Amino acid sequence: MKKRDQWSSKVGFILAAAGSAVGLGNIWKFPYTVGMNGGGAFVLLYFIFLIFVGTPLMLAAITLGRKTQLSVFGAYKSIDHRWSFVGALGVICGFFILAFYSTVGGWILYYFKNTLLGTLKTTDPNILGEMFTQLMNSPKKLILYQFIFLFITMIIVLKGITNGIEKASKIMMPALFIMLIMIAIRSVTLKGSVDGIRFLFVPDFSKITMDVAMNALGQMFFSLSIGMGVMVTYGSYLNKKENILNTAIIIPVIDTAVALIAGLATIPAVFALNFEVGEGPSLMFVTLPAVFASMPMGSFFCIVFFLLVIFAALTSSISMLEIAISYFVDVKQNNRTVSTIIISIIIFILGIPASLSLGTWENVNLIGRLNFFDLYDKLTSNILLTTGGFFLCIFVGWVLKADEAVKEIESSNVTFKLAKVWSFLIKYIVPIAIFIVLINSYKDFILSIF
Ligand code: PFF
Repeated sequence: MKKRDQWSSKVGFILAAAGSAVGLGNIWKFPYTVGMNGGGAFVLLYFIFLIFVGTPLMLAAITLGRKTQLSVFGAYKSIDHRWSFVGALGVICGFFILAFYSTVGGWILYYFKNTLLGTLKTTDPNILGEMFTQLMNSPKKLILYQFIFLFITMIIVLKGITNGIEKASKIMMPALFIMLIMIAIRSVTLKGSVDGIRFLFVPDFSKITMDVAMNALGQMFFSLSIGMGVMVTYGSYLNKKENILNTAIIIPVIDTAVALIAGLATIPAVFALNFEVGEGPSLMFVTLPAVFASMPMGSFFCIVFFLLVIFAALTSSISMLEIAISYFVDVKQNNRTVSTIIISIIIFILGIPASLSLGTWENVNLIGRLNFFDLYDKLTSNILLTTGGFFLCIFVGWVLKADEAVKEIESSNVTFKLAKVWSFLIKYIVPIAIFIVLINSYKDFILSIF
């Protein structure tokens, strides 16, 4: 059998896994989703899910990959072929996430170009709002920038997993982190920001509803990149000596830290500068330029910031494309280059209606009341990833068996002190919690279709 590539070191794995997790989900999606879902109540639920569902699942995913040494489809299949459909689910999910992810990646590229030209220097909500609306109503620009984003993703993937990108993230990711902290400091020191900090961290318990829980769980899956096989596949490149236990904790910690700091960079400024917290997907694009405009050397930081966000988005988008490709190459034995190009073209076409959805095609709905952007978003976060996570815990807890998984975790000579707690969570708590929320997600999804 052909020997598989392995990460040259555990750092390589952590960089790639954290690179996949940290992306637009943290910087763009988390703040506006908090804004649309009642602030602190959402954040509280997010944390509960993170500790009791997300982190145990992260460990389950990495363990499954490391044990089988196969990418997601093969990992399920090698243990029980009847479960390979879960891998297939992940592949489908990858197509749809990347379709709308590349749309937003395109917006970032466009804003990056604009900041280079220096056209964003204002704190006026109306002007910044108008700028975003104008972009949303420029089909050619939207499609062009979406294309460029996907094209860059495709080129990186064509070069294979071990190439420069993970190494570059050693510098880019910490830089992004520091940059976000600087913006957060500016945001929380703006006059009137206290209301925003309160909104973010003080839960209003009356806002806790099934819908908020559904969005918190969906956001968590999206942000951690779990539920579609990225972490299984990346874990499969780890060798048996590595301690996977601490890795499975480090990634959610980094991911959540970035999301929270992005929240602190955005939401207090929303309150201080009179933006609209429930604004939706445009929130970051109207608020952050205003924060930069009120910072010394703001134009420079704004350029650096958008550049770093492009980088973070790319390390996530390549992981999605990898999943789709690994199926066609590893399982179907297709040519890698040809598969990559064909898949990218399909995703580009799928993404076009999503790109147009916030402007000219706002009211064009394929099915029911959702435009394409919302359809892809809800379908992936609330339905496909969450369902994938449900099957993952059932599979690891009951098919592979939690005890076997613990053996795998301990095979690198670590003692898993919380093995019993983890097994209990994976076998009972995680599937039950996901199931309860999933019923609501399916109901919500079906109702918004009919
Ligand atoms: N976690 C990425 C982000 O937060 O931007 C998005 C993502 C990547 C979701 C890979 C799912 C995935 F498989």
